[in-house]
Amino acid sequence: MKQINHFLSLESIEPQVLKSILKNAHALKKNKFNPSQIFAGLSLAMVFDKRSTRTRMSFETAMKQLGGHTLVMNMEEMQITGAESVKDTANVVSRYVDAVMIRMSDDAIFREFASHAKIPVINGMTNESHPCQIMADLMTIEEKIGDVQGRKIAWFGDYNNVTKTFEQAAPIWEFDLVIACPPDLIQPARNTKNITFTTDPMVAAQDADVIVTDTWVSMGQEGKTIDKFMPYQVNAQIMAAAQPHAIFMHCMPVHKNEEVAQEVLDSPACVIYDEAENRLHAQKAILAWCLENAGVSVK
Ligand code: CP
Ligand code: NVA
Repeated sequence: MKQINHFLSLESIEPQVLKSILKNAHALKKNKFNPSQIFAGLSLAMVFDKRSTRTRMSFETAMKQLGGHTLVMNMEEMQITGAESVKDTANVVSRYVDAVMIRMSDDAIFREFASHAKIPVINGMTNESHPCQIMADLMTIEEKIGDVQGRKIAWFGDYNNVTKTFEQAAPIWEFDLVIACPPDLIQPARNTKNITFTTDPMVAAQDADVIVTDTWVSMGQEGKTIDKFMPYQVNAQIMAAAQPHAIFMHCMPVHKNEEVAQEVLDSPACVIYDEAENRLHAQKAILAWCLENAGVSVK
C-alpha cells in the first residue's frame, strides 16, 4: 500500500519534498487556473474548531479554481464533539472525501485523527503548529528578497504555534531565526545553530532581512494580559534597525498598535496582503502533493 501524503508538520515531511512543494507554489501562482482541472472529481473536507478567514478561503478557492469540491464542517456540529471516537470519525470521513484539512486546537487529537485516517490529513493549525502558514511565508520571502538560506528572520512577541513552526523551518531552509520575547517565554532547550532567543528587541532587529510578529493573544487565550509584550511591539524603530530591504510579515489577523504599530502597516516594507494571497498558491501546491496518490500532478 502506498504511503499517505499527510501534511502534518514541517518535521514530518522530507525537506526535499517541502522544497519542491514551494517551487510548485511559485509556478502555480503564475496562472491561477493551470494546470486546469487537476482536482476534478476530488473533494476536500475542512473541519474547524476555531475561526478562520484565510485558511478556509484559500483552501476552498484553491480546490475550486482547479476543479475540485469542498465541504466545510464546524467541529462543534460533528459527533466527535459528543461521544463519537476520533478513530470512527477519521475512518468515516475517509470514506466520503479524498483529503481533509483540520484546524484543531489539540495537537494530540489532531495526530490521533491522522493516525486513523485513510486519506491525506492537512494541518490547518493546531495550538502547536501552523505549517501551511509558514509555507506561504517562505514563498513570500523568496518572492520579495530571494533565497531564504542565510537570511536573518527576527520574530517579536509571543512564543506560539507560528513561532514554533518557524523554528521547525529554520534548519530545513538554513536561515537564522532570532526570537525576541519576554524573559519567561525564553526556551533555552530550543537554542540551536539556527535558533537564538533574546529579551532585547533591538538585538533581534539588527540587520534582519525579515521582521515578523503575530498576535499576543492567540485564539483560545482570550483574557490573557499583554503588558509584558509592549517592549516587543514592531514599530518604526525596530524597522530602522533592520536591513534597508527588510520586509514586515504577519500571518494575520493583525491587532494594530498592539503587536505592530500603524506606521509599520502603512510602510512599503509591509507585505502582509501578499503573504495572505500566497496562502492560496501554497495551498494548491500542498493539496497537489497530498493528492498525488489520487493521480494529481502539477507537471
Ligand atoms: N493566518 C491564518 O491562518 O488566518 P485565518 O485564521 O484567518 O485562517
Ligand atoms: N497564533 C495565532 C495564529 C492565527 C492565524 C492563533 O493561534 O490564534
